[in-house]
Amino acid sequence: MTLLPETLCHLNGQTLPLRDAKVSVLDRGFIFGDGIYEVIPVYGRRLFCFDEHMARMQRSLGKLRIPNPHTRESWLRLVRELVAAQPAEDQLVYIEITRGVALRDHVMPEGLTPTVFVMTSAMKPPTVETRHHGVACITARDFRWERGDIKSISLLGNVLARQMSADHGAAETLLFRDGWLTEASASNVWVVHEGALLGPPKGDHVLEGIRYDLLAELCEEVGIAYNLRPIAEADVLGADEVMLSSATKEILPVTRIDGEGVGHGAMRGKPGPVYGRLYEAYQRAKVVQSI
Ligand SMILES: Cc1ncc(COP(=O)(O)O)c(C=O)c1O
Repeated sequence: MTLLPETLCHLNGQTLPLRDAKVSVLDRGFIFGDGIYEVIPVYGRRLFCFDEHMARMQRSLGKLRIPNPHTRESWLRLVRELVAAQPAEDQLVYIEITRGVALRDHVMPEGLTPTVFVMTSAMKPPTVETRHHGVACITARDFRWERGDIKSISLLGNVLARQMSADHGAAETLLFRDGWLTEASASNVWVVHEGALLGPPKGDHVLEGIRYDLLAELCEEVGIAYNLRPIAEADVLGADEVMLSSATKEILPVTRIDGEGVGHGAMRGKPGPVYGRLYEAYQRAKVVQSI
């Protein structure tokens, strides 16, 4: 992310340069990580899957009993104002809502005004070179908490998991809980078996990426079977193809896991055909589904 300090951001109803934005040390986001966030991709200054992001944000807020401080329309207006002020055409909008400011006490105080922060930065998508070769990943036990479904700003587990891959020069850490694939530190994970795209079931242990339903749509469009079911570690290591998905990565092929090539025969260690078709479909969806 290219983040210029003079970039405008939004904090609690005010638009101001990022360098001047300050929150209280008693903000429960700072004290407890008591808040949620969203990351929305922007292509050509248009918001991709905006309503899906709003729906997930509402689900996260509901699970934490934080009231949504804005209507859909006021979110749209607010975010569009910042997007218009950014020099880059393609951006990533970051929205954070915390429970607000209060004296430190674990119990959720009643009637707090949530803290609202929004910033946007230039999007840095994976390079053509990275897409061509695919990325390396490592595997690890999923040692995070059991509420991965909440898009919580408490991301220490994800930070530790991501650093493990960074230390190995890898792009992501694929996580397994009791031997079953959950997700990666900042992406969802998909495998291809016999031409079908498989993903772990939605549930408490996985963040439901906006690409979960989007990939289901794209699979339908291009005639690829799509199935959510528990995926064992051996299924990942023996898959024909493995992919990551996230707002920034879109869909990205994984070609090495723990130093071994992904796939079979001549395709071993190379991005596969299912990835290629879904990537093309994704590029078309960006044009159609942005507002
Ligand atoms: C833990 C985790 N899982 C999955 C995802 C993918 O979600 P999305 O496709 O909405 O970006 C993310 C995105 O940042 C993430 O942090």
